[in-house]
Amino acid sequence: MSVADSDGATRSLDEALLAAREAGFLGPGPIARHLRHAQGFVDLAKRQPHVTERPRILDLGSGGGLPGLVVAQQWPQATLVLLDANRRRASFLERSIVSCGLQSRVSVVQQRAEVSGRDLAFRATFDGVVARSFGVPAVVAECAAPFLRQGGWLIVSEPPAEKIEAPLPHRTDAEEVTEDEAARWPSGPLAQFGLTPVAFVHDEFGYEVLSQSELCPDAFPRRDGVPSRKPRF
Ligand SMILES: C[S@@+](CC[C@H](N)C(=O)[O-])C[C@H]1O[C@@H](n2cnc3c(N)ncnc32)[C@H](O)[C@@H]1O
Repeated sequence: MSVADSDGATRSLDEALLAAREAGFLGPGPIARHLRHAQGFVDLAKRQPHVTERPRILDLGSGGGLPGLVVAQQWPQATLVLLDANRRRASFLERSIVSCGLQSRVSVVQQRAEVSGRDLAFRATFDGVVARSFGVPAVVAECAAPFLRQGGWLIVSEPPAEKIEAPLPHRTDAEEVTEDEAARWPSGPLAQFGLTPVAFVHDEFGYEVLSQSELCPDAFPRRDGVPSRKPRF
């Protein structure tokens, strides 16, 4: 991509996010901060072990397009599915991928995750799932795991750590975590979805990284709305 192309792409992305804000699909705060937050997903995803050359990534509950549009723009080898159940948001996302020139490798699916996660076109076909403000950890885990192939990764935005405690024994790396964070992403209950917590990364923002160490069992996701009505942890 030339500098001019890249400037144009950045401008289109900024415009798409401003439009998302006007439509009420993007939370408060400067756009630049949202972009930095989304960039954190890209940086972490690229550092995952066994990351494939042409990763297939799902943005779970993409809303106004974050972090999916940024992941797509910053990772030209990746193909993405932006999933959102809401019809207005999905139409907005369709327009945004065209205005950002991403339609050749980004698509939009307007559906509940509990439904797509059972569709064989999507189930266990993704290398990675990103999720920002989708729901509480139990809901994110149950809705994300069915999409992931074995060895895939899940990156979820988390509140930044206020208090850093000692590393926890179940962690495979030297990341320090808060007790709060370990309670939010407990390894025992996550195992029922085939997920293993790998790291809590905290800098300006917080992110939880998980690995799909086993394929998600067929029992999940449960019927539409059940993951949030009866969370498993
Ligand atoms: C709070 S918004 C976050 C949007 C975006 N990720 C962001 O951070 O700006 C959550 C989005 O998830 C979508 N959503 C919630 N539950 C869903 C489900 N079960 N399946 C698909 N989309 C869902 C909503 O329509 C909404 O657009």
